[in-house]
Amino acid sequence: MKKTPHIEVDREGLIAETVLLPGDPLRAKFIAETYLDDVICFNRVRNMLGFTGKYKGKKVSVMGTGMGMPSIGIYSYELIHFYGVKNLIRVGSCGSYQEDVKVRDIVIAMGACTNSAYASQYGLNGTFAPIASWSLLKRAVEAAERKGIPVKVGNVLSSDVFYNDNPEAWKKWAGMGVLAVEMEAAALYMNAARAGANALCILTVSDSLVSQEETTAEERERSFTQMVEIALELA
Ligand code: HPA
Repeated sequence: MKKTPHIEVDREGLIAETVLLPGDPLRAKFIAETYLDDVICFNRVRNMLGFTGKYKGKKVSVMGTGMGMPSIGIYSYELIHFYGVKNLIRVGSCGSYQEDVKVRDIVIAMGACTNSAYASQYGLNGTFAPIASWSLLKRAVEAAERKGIPVKVGNVLSSDVFYNDNPEAWKKWAGMGVLAVEMEAAALYMNAARAGANALCILTVSDSLVSQEETTAEERERSFTQMVEIALELA
């Protein structure tokens, strides 16, 4: 096993089969320090920190992805193809597109629409529908129910732009029932689909395009905790 351009692991066993993927590498550090035992840091390249430890006795890793589809595309591809990762669970934030999806709510992306050209590499003569792994989705919903944490399950938009030149553009997606916008799920789902791996994206709503409401850092912490606890149950 040799190092990849972006992950400095050259030995078997340092990365678990299940990896949680926050966008922010410092979130990865926080998750490892808060929830895992026997933690090792396996990656420092570009400060994209990755850790492996144990959760309730089960080996699990957590690593940052950076923002956007190109970035999560690189890290998820290397984790799957070079390190044998089987289950990839993004834990991120999103902006709500719907009145009844409130800030601090948890959204699970059953599907991920996108305005990116990521799928063009596959040469399909149609539109690919990036979807979550059914078994991870089912288990996440069951874990949320056990814990009494309400979740909204549906479509999200994985957007290439955070600052859209057309401030009204989101309303068309909202009209198609899309729950929220983020910037990574579609690429993660496509990489997993192409490689036969399992992927899921769990999100907390950090802001709302409907109400213009935003969460404070402290408010985000609580829903972040619930989201991570759901994700860790999948290890
Ligand atoms: N747009 C894109 N990604 C996001 C947003 C948003 O409003 N909020 C959190 N992630």
